[in-house]
Amino acid sequence: MFKDRVIIVTGSSKGIGREIALKMAEYGANVVITYCNDFHSANQTLSRIQEKGNRALCLKLDVTKEESVIGMYKEIDREFSRIDVLINNAGIGVPNSIENIDLNTWNKTIETNITGAFLCTKYALPLFKASGGGHIVNISSVAGLTGGSFGPHYGASKAGLIGLTKSCARDLAKYNINVNAIAPGPIDSDMTDSLSDEVLAKIIDGTPLGRVGKMSEVAELTCLLSNANVGFITGQTIVVDGGRYMI
Ligand code: NAI
Repeated sequence: MFKDRVIIVTGSSKGIGREIALKMAEYGANVVITYCNDFHSANQTLSRIQEKGNRALCLKLDVTKEESVIGMYKEIDREFSRIDVLINNAGIGVPNSIENIDLNTWNKTIETNITGAFLCTKYALPLFKASGGGHIVNISSVAGLTGGSFGPHYGASKAGLIGLTKSCARDLAKYNINVNAIAPGPIDSDMTDSLSDEVLAKIIDGTPLGRVGKMSEVAELTCLLSNANVGFITGQTIVVDGGRYMI
């Protein structure tokens, strides 16, 4: 599906990002994985991709820092001279309430979850143009559609990411770039581990499929939305939540 394609997954040393990077590699992609702090885990992911015979790069990236984003694309330009797919996966979510959240946490969440995707998209454009177009998938959350257990900072940031997705889909269509978002509900991961048993039980109780999702389910959908053969979908947000949220 992705043979000779170059795919970047931000925040891919662990969690959903790692699962996406490995799945893309399985489908033949050359993968750029990025890490913020955890070089060891990122390096393990890199080795697993290279074992499959794919080309791969492992780069340090802080999505909130413009210089870091620009530096990443310089490295990618040197190595591959193109980009076919960008997955804006890097994100943070620390549960809190409107009464207790401090401004610093609010700002950090917005900067990581929206500004990060903005910077990674903006500075990817020259390389997308060199490839004649491509696909961007933003990993949002059902919290961006319904609000949710992680609080107002997280919900606002993920709703903002959906707005960014739609605006970019309109703006970038002229370059043959499709931009879509995925809105997962609770997925079995470190992030859901941070929820109390009581909150998690309530979530599962309200989910028609009666379970949390798997990272592999998000990864497969990401591959589908990045596939050049599925080229007539843009500006959409696809929900992966076992049926909790139905329009
Ligand atoms: P995670 O915490 O395991 O992974 C997040 C990744 O983002 C980490 O690799 C981290 O280093 C990276 N990151 C954080 N700040 C960064 C920064 N400033 N610059 C670069 N990288 C940075 O989380 P998980 O669960 O894998 O989540 C991945 C994405 O999926 C996030 O955007 C999250 O909001 C979203 N999501 C997760 C859900 C879940 O249930 N796990 C549900 C809905 C959405």
